Order: sequence, then structure tokens, then C-alpha cells
Amino acid sequence: MTVVILDFGGQYAHLISRRVRELGFRAETVPYDISLGELEAFRADAYILSGGPSSLLSPDPPMPSAEALQRIVGSGKPVLGICYGHQLLASFFGARLERREAGEYGPSTFRLLRPDPLFEGLPREFRVWMSHRDSVSQLPESLVALGETGYSPVAAFRHRRLKVYGLQFHPEVRHTEHGYEILGNFLRRVSSLAPDWSVDDYLEERVAEARRRCGGGNALIAVSGGVDSTTVALILLKALGRERVHLVFIDTGLLREGEAERAASTLRRLGFSHVHVVDAGETFLERLRGVTDPEEKRRVVAETFLEVLSREKVELEKRYGKFTCLAQGTIYPDRIETGKAGRGSVKIKSHHNVAMGSVEGLELFEPLRDLYKDEVRRLALRLGVPGEVVERHPFPGPGLAIRVVGEVTAEKLALLRKATRIVEEEFKRAGLYGHVWQAFPVLLPARSVGVKGDSRSYEYVLALRAVVSEDGMTASFARLPWGFLERLAGRLVNEVEGVNRVLYDITDKPPATIEYE
Ligand code: XMP
Repeated sequence: MTVVILDFGGQYAHLISRRVRELGFRAETVPYDISLGELEAFRADAYILSGGPSSLLSPDPPMPSAEALQRIVGSGKPVLGICYGHQLLASFFGARLERREAGEYGPSTFRLLRPDPLFEGLPREFRVWMSHRDSVSQLPESLVALGETGYSPVAAFRHRRLKVYGLQFHPEVRHTEHGYEILGNFLRRVSSLAPDWSVDDYLEERVAEARRRCGGGNALIAVSGGVDSTTVALILLKALGRERVHLVFIDTGLLREGEAERAASTLRRLGFSHVHVVDAGETFLERLRGVTDPEEKRRVVAETFLEVLSREKVELEKRYGKFTCLAQGTIYPDRIETGKAGRGSVKIKSHHNVAMGSVEGLELFEPLRDLYKDEVRRLALRLGVPGEVVERHPFPGPGLAIRVVGEVTAEKLALLRKATRIVEEEFKRAGLYGHVWQAFPVLLPARSVGVKGDSRSYEYVLALRAVVSEDGMTASFARLPWGFLERLAGRLVNEVEGVNRVLYDITDKPPATIEYE
């Protein structure tokens, strides 16, 4: 069963696909202006029209082509419009829209006006998450209002005859009470679809895709030992067999203690025959000399990485024959934050995989591009990735370079590497490692005065970052016990030479991000 989601560029559009998958259906997110031919190829069982930042009352609002819209609404298949999609469907049937002075942003109380299968099993009143300024103010005969809020007279509607629905609020976000049940009702009760999709199907589809796209030669993948690249490597292994899959581990010198050896031995244990470790630490350090701007650092690391990988590919081709594809463990949040996830997403920071692009002559294969981290973790477990890899905290592609604020030097890296080891050790020892999304120290470009022994010290300040999060897109700082923080700070100032002060970061994302650069 396939649900096609038309993406109008809304902040939460991609979350819809995730919820649809959680409910047990295949989700295909497509740009709103997809051609009729492409749309038909999906053979959708239901459609969802997402929210978006535009106004239908503006001169040239984003619209599907007339034929595509006609096909969606006239197909007899169930259709659900959310926010912008809600307004678009309402106006398609002749409803009046209105732009008001103020908007309705954040929580609102939704009141059900009449029973409907979409709201079956739900209370008559609940909290919903709103984010709009335009509203549907008057409905034509063919549509009927199902619910309202104090601000929106038509917070939900349905077509009297067709299975066409609109919701002004966002059922896909967790802040909406019963949102998951509403989406479930739409797919199971209104659309009468039976869930038939699981992570195993996803796996099978990706393996088939790997065969199709990478089948003509050898496949290359730059691995980090983390869950994303390990999962992709295992998909390739299933698709192509061990002789044609080449794993390249580039030691950038920006990694944690013992990382190269640990990753290589885990990967060999998983059955890979070709694990090539390339030591490029000096090159990276040289290129990073004098670079202090965060985006510039990311660009330099990505560029150098691509250069080292391209060189390695040429060497490997001499020994093993032609390579056809480059696989990467890019996940959805990497794309959205880099501003490369469909129309209308803005750049927050250039995530390594996305910024790097592909090696010349190799087709890019990114089987995890639509998944969130926790979905990848579930997939990884199915593939037999060891628990310790699955549970490991995410570590960014540019590594410690983006945790040394300011210029990166060998000394600062050595200091931060040691501090990172201590932080990881203490979180594990206290049984807190699995309770946080990430926990790591950051070396600030600041020194402070202290007293060590009986003498004055003038040393670096470390910031400690520890957050809880579901998917890395938003995060809250971890409320850690004082006793634990005290012990950890004690170890850091005692054992890491050059540090005499530790700060604990109590900022959420947003407004901060998890990493510092
Ligand atoms: P931010 O700092 O944007 O990070 O809140 C969100 C999550 O993404 C990780 N991150 C990266 N992962 N390549 C990656 O593979 C990158 O370039 C990158 N930058 C940030 C970060 O550690 C956090 O888990």
C-alpha cells in the first residue's frame, strides 16, 4: 500500500512520511509540481498534501499541475490536505480563504463539530499544533466542517461524497494530541488500507536498488564505523557480495581515540573482505591551517575528503577493476540542514556527506536518504549490526574539527581527543550513555585564569554538551545530576592538561544547534 505525499515545502512535510511508515505503509514524498506521468507511476492508494510556507492568496502560489490535481481529487482515492494542503483542497472545491491580521501559531484547542471516521475513538476536544495565517472562512455546499478552534472556524473539513479531508493543524507533529491516531484513522478507517509495509520491505527494496544501480562494477563506500555507513555497507554486501564491495576508512586525524582500528576490526568481523584504511591526518591538518569560519571548515574537510577518496578510487581501480558507484550513509536530517531536501528548505549547516558530493565518474547511491536516525538504527539491528555500533552516539563527518571552535591545531585536537574519551567513559560508567542522544566536550577559543596546586594557571575552557533528542532535529539539554557533573568536571581539569574550567551548556535546539559549528 503506497501513500504519496505531495511536498509543498513545509517544515514538517517530511515528518508525514515518517509517521506513514510507522503506521505500516510505504510513503513516497514527491515535489508538489510532479508531472502527471510520474505521479501515476506510483499507483497511490492514498494522497496527502503537506503544509508549506506559501500563501494561496499570493499572486503565484505553488500548485500541482491542473491535470495532476484533477487526477488526485478525481481518482476516488482518499486525499488528506494538511495546513497549506487543507487550504488548497478547500479552495479547489470553491471555499473562501481569508488572510487575517494575526496568525494562529502554536497550541490551540480543537473542538469536534460532528463525528467522523477520521476522529473515531478521540475525545471531543484536544490540543493541536497550528502554524498558519490564512484560514478557510466559508465552505461550499460540497464540503462540511468537522471541527473548529477559537481562531479557525474550519479547522477540519470533509467532502460530503468523496473521501477528501482537510486539517488546518499538523497531525504529524508530536505536540498535536492524537495526531498519530488521526493519521492512522485516515489510512485504516477512511481509506480502508491494511498496513503491509515493514522495515524488511525497505531493506529488500534498497538491496534491489543497489543491484540495479551499482550492479555494473565495484562499489565504493567511505565508512566511519558509525551506524549509517555500516548499514549502507551491509546493504551493498547483500546486493553485490563481498568481492565487489570496497570500504574506505579515511583517518582524517579528526577522529576519536582508537577509532580507525576499532572501525576496521568491527567491519572485518561483519564479513567485509576489502576494508582499506587511509591515513590522511597530515593533509587535513595542513588544509585546515588558519581556517576559523565554521562553514569554511566544513567545506575544507569535505573537499579534502573527496580528494583523498578520489585518489584512493584510482588506486583501487588499478587493482580491482572498474568502480561504478559511490554509496553514502546520508540520512534525511543531513539533507534538510544542508538545505538540499527539496524546494524551499534553508541551509543551517553543510552536513558532510551532502556537501561532499560524488567522486567523478561514480553514481551516488544513498539508500538512507529519507530516514531518520532512529529508523536507521532499527534497520541496522535487522541487518545484524552489533548493538554497540547501533547505540553509539552520532559523530559528525567533519569530526573534532567542528568541536574545536576557532583554528584547529594538532595540540588542540590531542587535548580534545583526551577530553572526549573521558566524557564517554564517565557517561558509560554512570549508565547515562544510553539515555542521551549525544554527550561531548567542545574546546572553546577562550582561556581563563585559575589556580592549580598553588600556582596561577591560564588555560583553556571546555564546554560540555549533552542533549536528549528523538531524531536530532530538535533537542533539549540533558538534566544531569550535579554529582555526576562535578565528578566529570573534576576528571577533565585534573587529567586533561591545558584545561582549567568546564562549562555545562544548557541551551536547547532550537535556538542553538547540537554541534557548535
Ligand atoms: P546539529 O549540530 O545540526 O546536528 O544540531 C544535528 C545532528 O547531526 C550531526 N551532525 C552531522 N552528522 N555530518 C554528519 O554525519 C555532519 O556534517 C554533521 N554535522 C552535524 C550532529 O552530531 C547531530 O547529531
